Amino acid sequence: MTSTTSNLSPELQQRLADLRQRLAYLRAEHPNSVLTQIGNTPMLSIPYENPNIKLWAKLDSYNPSSSVKDRTALYLVADAMEQSGVTSETTLVEASSGNTGIGLAMICAVLKQKALIYMADDTSIERRHLISAYGAKIKLTPGELGTTGAIEAARAKNEEEGFYWIAQHENKANILAHYDSTGPEILQQCPEIDAFVACSGTTGTLVGASSFIKETHPDLQVVSVWPKTKIMGIRRPDGDCRPIIYDDSWIDHIIEIEEPGAKSGTRALANQTGMLVGPTSGAAWLATRRWLNGLEDTSHIKNVVIFFPDDGVRYLSTDTFHDDGYGKDFF
Ligand SMILES: Cc1ncc(COP(=O)(O)O)c(C=O)c1O
Repeated sequence: MTSTTSNLSPELQQRLADLRQRLAYLRAEHPNSVLTQIGNTPMLSIPYENPNIKLWAKLDSYNPSSSVKDRTALYLVADAMEQSGVTSETTLVEASSGNTGIGLAMICAVLKQKALIYMADDTSIERRHLISAYGAKIKLTPGELGTTGAIEAARAKNEEEGFYWIAQHENKANILAHYDSTGPEILQQCPEIDAFVACSGTTGTLVGASSFIKETHPDLQVVSVWPKTKIMGIRRPDGDCRPIIYDDSWIDHIIEIEEPGAKSGTRALANQTGMLVGPTSGAAWLATRRWLNGLEDTSHIKNVVIFFPDDGVRYLSTDTFHDDGYGKDFF
């Protein structure tokens, strides 16, 4: 396969070149640390009734802090050092539905850097425990204000001296993380990919990986999964919540999934495939099936890669796996 022209602007290509250098430096400075274990996650097949179509799960729960956001956080921190002169004295501030906060806290533990995470108070308790286990500080914002409330609080902190706001929703280093790591891995593991399905939060995963894969696979079908009703970890990229980095020119189809569907998909993945993943993975799996079922002709679709962003353990206290939480219905 020969690479064609880059889908990145010349400015972003230069930024990525600088970022790669900084990443190489960070990895060399921390040679046997968790920083070297981010990415290179497995891709496993999922049974599907149509023998002509193969479904593949890209399992990003296999990152060191168990989510895709290890990739994002690593690139965002390296970019902040490269572009904005962030040093080990700077406190990094971010708003997160949880996973970026956890990934950032893990990376800051290695770099001996302070991190302050703003998150809505209705996210799962495991996420809060994980962030503080890595040594970062948490500020809770009212759940009814959602991630938007957390973003506003983090933005305000950015204006204080000694703080740097990571801003994953508007920072193009988020896209570069997936253009540079997620996209190439997917293509290496599934060179004959026809479709890519992923949920939208900041949209970094979908936009970054798709823009890389479409350089050599221009016919790739990109399916963006949006929550119809609230699903923890993602949000619709339209209306007031539109992330600044969102670029809908990479999206071919939008499938909306309701929360009960995401939950039943997640439960079925656990007890039919042994993949214990979070509800956005269940949503993406269900969306894939609905999308394929709705196509009149599937003869051009042989391999579909579905992105599974995080593991299920951090949802055990919620009703993701059991209606009353904590698996009480076993007893
Ligand atoms: C569990 C989960 N799934 C999916 C996503 C969406 O990823 P992205 O922000 O790259 O769109 C997120 C983002 O926070 C997430 O936490």
